[in-house]
Order: sequence, then structure tokens, then C-alpha cells
Amino acid sequence: MAIDAPVTRPANPRFSSGPCAKIPTFSLDKLSDAPLGRSHRAAIGKEKLKAAIDGTAEILGIPEGYKVGIVPASDTGAVEMAMWSMLGARKATMLAWESFGAGWVTDVVKQLKIDAEVKEAGYGDIVDFTEVDFDTDVVFTWNGTTSGVRVPNGDAIPADRAGLTICDATSAAFAQDLPWDKLDVVTFSWQKVLGGEAAHGMLVLSPRAVERLESYTPAWPLPKIFRMTKGGKLNEGIFKGETINTPSMLAVEDYLVALDWARSVGGLKGLMARADANAQAIWDFCESRDWIANLANDPATRSNTSVCLKFTDDRISDGAAFAKAVAKRLENEGVGLDLGAYRDAPAGLRIWCGGTVETSDIEALLPWIEWAYEAEIAAQSQAA
Ligand SMILES: Cc1ncc(COP(=O)(O)O)c(C=O)c1O
Repeated sequence: MAIDAPVTRPANPRFSSGPCAKIPTFSLDKLSDAPLGRSHRAAIGKEKLKAAIDGTAEILGIPEGYKVGIVPASDTGAVEMAMWSMLGARKATMLAWESFGAGWVTDVVKQLKIDAEVKEAGYGDIVDFTEVDFDTDVVFTWNGTTSGVRVPNGDAIPADRAGLTICDATSAAFAQDLPWDKLDVVTFSWQKVLGGEAAHGMLVLSPRAVERLESYTPAWPLPKIFRMTKGGKLNEGIFKGETINTPSMLAVEDYLVALDWARSVGGLKGLMARADANAQAIWDFCESRDWIANLANDPATRSNTSVCLKFTDDRISDGAAFAKAVAKRLENEGVGLDLGAYRDAPAGLRIWCGGTVETSDIEALLPWIEWAYEAEIAAQSQAA
């Protein structure tokens, strides 16, 4: 039975999983200090880039001795430069439970053609970390953005591992606790949890990752934008803000503004609490309804950023068409934009819950989802 449309609308209907909602206080005037038209190699440019690196390390609590760099080509650039530069020294293990992890498998198996064991789990599940050989180089995604399944903690990763752990944390950084001592390479971009602008990637290296770079030269050629060493030594400049090629100073300014906002909400703890509250509101909603459920099967692995939902009503005849139609109704009403499931993922909804999203907006969205679902069930039975 169709129900009345709710009265309250989210103040910000942007629930995209990337680019994600900008900080709640955002306005273009906030970028007026950007050194536009100036060289990124000038003192002012270098200062801003260094502030972006230092602010990242400060808020994320990255340990002393780790290197933080700004690299080209967003998160993909950061992951690929790490894989191309470091893999091949020993056997690799590739872990994947959704489409981005699967993309890294393709890179390693089909492009780099490295000796690798591939361990995969279907959408909703995760690979068993206790069965992974961490004496191999292990590549995985901390938070599967397209399945809403995340690694619950780093307990299964041994401190005395011989291999490197290369972790794509693009939808986890600034929302989830990353165990830095268990991660040798961590990558992310600006446009996810902090709602920054796309283009640049962040690359965090542990001392062991640096050691690999300085002691191993891959057999394949490396393009300039992947090269992190010079004469066998780490190119330290990259980790002080001397980027490999030209960055957008507007995007850098925007990131600095987002970092300032992150400080104002209590830093990493505050950001995690915001994401947790957003996700919890959705989990509670699903808990009290029998027609919608989290795609993550094990509650311990449920993401607090990319929350993926499936419709579980037996009356739904075509799951993909149904989910698309619900998302379309929400979009048409202007109450929920870009919240359909990822194109390669099971049919459903994906609602971004990172810290830039206000819990009041999630709470305002949920009755609209119920409304759109009931409207679509009614439309389906009328059409039958
Ligand atoms: C887990 C994961 N890895 C990689 C990417 C690709 O990121 P980018 O577009 O920043 O290269 C995404 C984008 O959503 C992602 O969610």
C-alpha cells in the first residue's frame, strides 16, 4: 500500500560514494586563499602542499618514521604506483571481495603477471584473513566501497610478517581506525571521507615499504609518475610536497579547508563518531523492517561509510529494475542523489555515511526510502 510522502527532506540530499558530500560548512569563498596562478614550486605552493601532508599525518595519527606523499591520479594512481614499484620481489596474495579489489587482481595477474595467489569472496562476504600468508606481499581494500564490507581490524596481520601489506583505504581513511603498524602501504584520495576534490592520491609508506623501494628494482619499466626513487634512494621530496608533476592548487586549498573542518569536529575520533552515527541510523532502520537488509552478511564487517543495502521482499519480481526505480524516485524528489548500488554490485542502494554527511540528513532520508519502496511495490502490482 502506497504511503504518504514524508514532510521532512534532507537539507543536503547528496549521498554519493565519491565524490562525496562536501564539508557541511563548505562555500566557494573558503577557497579564496588558494595561490591560483602561482607555481607549486614557489614557497607558497610548497608550504600549502606540506601543510596538506602534515595535516593528514596529524589527523590520522600516522606514526613517526612513516612517509606521506601526494601523488598523481587519485587513489588508483597511488595503489598502482605502489604495486608497480614494490611487487615482484616475493610472491603476492591478492584479496578481493568487491569490484575495486578485483581491479587490483587484474592489474597484478593480467598486467604485471606476478606469481600471485588470488583469494576472493562474493559481495557481502570477506576473505578469511586468518588463512592469508603474510610472508607474501598482500594487496587488499580496507573498505569495499561497492559492497559495504570492511576489514573489522588488523588482528590477523602478524607484526613480524615478511611480506608487505598494501592497503587501498580510500573509503576508510578518516572514518575507520587503521592499524598503521600492520599496514605498509596505505592509499586514499581527497574526495571520499573528507569530501575533497578529485585528482590527487595520498600514499603512506611504512619504513618497511621504503626499505623495499630502496632494495628492489622491478623487472619492468616504470613511467615517471610511478617513480619514487632516484639513484636507488627514496625521492624524499615527494614526501615533503615536491610533487612528481603539477597539482591543482585549488584542490589543495580545498583539502586544507576540509582538514581544518576535520579538526573542528574533533579530528579522527570526531570523524569516526559521525560516520558511526550515520551508519547506525541506517542499521536501526533496517533492523526494524523485513524488506531491506545490509548487504554485509557479518555485522562485524559492516561498513560505516559506504552502507550497501539490498531489498529482501519476495514480492519483488525484478530486483535490479526495482532498486533502480526506487533510487530514481528519491532522485526525482530531490531527497537522495546518487544512491543506487554500484554498477557491478548486486542490486540495491548505497548510502554514503562518511563524516561530511549530517546524521539529521540520513534520518530525514530513511522515511523517503520507505515511501519510495512502498510506491514501487504498489506500481509493480498495478503493472502485473
Ligand atoms: C575502494 C576503492 N578503490 C579505488 C577507487 C578508485 O578511486 P579513484 O577514482 O580515486 O582513483 C575507489 C573509488 O570509488 C574505491 O572506492
